[in-house]
Amino acid sequence: MPEMIGIAAVAANGIIGTRNDIPWRIPADWRRFKSLTMGQVLIMGRKTYESIGRALPGRITFVITRDRMWRAEGVRTATSLEDAVDQALQLDPQIIFVAGGGEIYRAAWDRLSGLEITEVDQKPDGEVTFPEIDPDEWLETDRESHDGYSFVSYRRRSPRESAV
Ligand SMILES: NC(=O)c1ccc[n+]([C@@H]2O[C@H](COP(=O)([O-])OP(=O)(O)OC[C@H]3O[C@@H](n4cnc5c(N)ncnc54)[C@H](OP(=O)(O)O)[C@@H]3O)[C@@H](O)[C@H]2O)c1
Repeated sequence: MPEMIGIAAVAANGIIGTRNDIPWRIPADWRRFKSLTMGQVLIMGRKTYESIGRALPGRITFVITRDRMWRAEGVRTATSLEDAVDQALQLDPQIIFVAGGGEIYRAAWDRLSGLEITEVDQKPDGEVTFPEIDPDEWLETDRESHDGYSFVSYRRRSPRESAV
């Protein structure tokens, strides 16, 4: 079974988004997102897709929406997280990345086996948050500190029988 990994940039106050955008610009975070996800499968919510505004090259992306008529060039649509995961599994991926936003991280939370978090040293205003990373549940396995942000990896302490 593939790993299912949540990938997000999260501010010190838990904020990940505001007005369907991200409240900071950190090019190194985008580069890391690109290098981790290249060649892999992504699952994201329709609002996150709209905020990016295009299909990300080199990745197969499933966009979750309740609107059965919704289409966009270069991405596949799914009507629920379960539908996205079922479709993704047919591709036999090594990793499925869950790329947000807030609704989709929460829907996928119990299935995630790992987290790749960019901790952003800011406390911006915003209305979309990341779920709490409970240290009883998540083990920090790697931390790379930079000026203004850190790249942090987590593993779930008791792996789920099946991540997906
Ligand atoms: N900092 C980061 O790393 C990061 C990463 C990703 C996103 N973001 C930010 O997060 C914000 C977006 O997050 P969000 O929580 O507002 O939206 P979202 O999770 O990206 O998308 C929500 C949409 O997903 C669809 N959806 C959700 N649950 C569903 C279900 N059970 N079945 C079918 N469809 C479902 C619905 O689409 P329809 O309305 O079309 O039905 C819903 O409106 C933006 O500000 C974005 O910039 C930040």
